[in-house]
Amino acid sequence: MAPGIVVRQGCPEDGQALVPLRMALWPDCSLEEHRNEIEGQLSGAGPYPFPTALFVAVTAAGEVVGFLEADLRSHADGCDATCPVGYIEGWFVAEGYRRQGVGGMLIAAAEQWARELGCLEMASDTWLENEVSIRAHVGLGFEEVDRVVNFRKKL
Ligand SMILES: CC(C)(COP(=O)(O)OP(=O)(O)OC[C@H]1O[C@@H](n2cnc3c(N)ncnc32)[C@H](O)[C@@H]1OP(=O)(O)O)[C@@H](O)C(=O)NCCC(=O)NCCS
Repeated sequence: MAPGIVVRQGCPEDGQALVPLRMALWPDCSLEEHRNEIEGQLSGAGPYPFPTALFVAVTAAGEVVGFLEADLRSHADGCDATCPVGYIEGWFVAEGYRRQGVGGMLIAAAEQWARELGCLEMASDTWLENEVSIRAHVGLGFEEVDRVVNFRKKL
């Protein structure tokens, strides 16, 4: 386990530190989009229809080395369609801190948050080619339910 690392809810002071971590996970997003989305998450004023949560993993020295963004979805593939589901929207641990249980601590915090909101299931997704993420999900108790290609059409 990673010594001295704690997971807690994110707060506005974490905003700056979250930018590079988010950019590493979602490089296609602009700096401005990252800043806006972080601000929305941390202030609770984001344009999200369901509750959201942001957890950070912090070293004893105060460095933010991981984050997890979660929300509730009305349903998710493979889950009970009659009950909202806790959903992992973003999950990242800085390279030097991986395989030490930090990702698992973040998932556990999100699961507890969703449980407290009455959820009976947690769901997530990842890119088909992201083997590490697939293994980490399975290693932490998720089961694979589907492989999909998403489409969009503007109306
Ligand atoms: C996915 C990620 C968040 C996991 O974080 P982590 O801190 O390494 O996770 P943990 O140390 O808690 O690992 C938990 C379990 O997942 C599995 N696992 C994690 N990384 C693995 C790897 N590289 N290979 C095989 N299994 C792995 C193991 O079962 C591990 O338990 P163990 O170490 O006791 O065997 C991290 O690898 C990461 O940030 N990757 C890049 C971003 C990303 O892909 N995010 C997910 C997108 S949805």
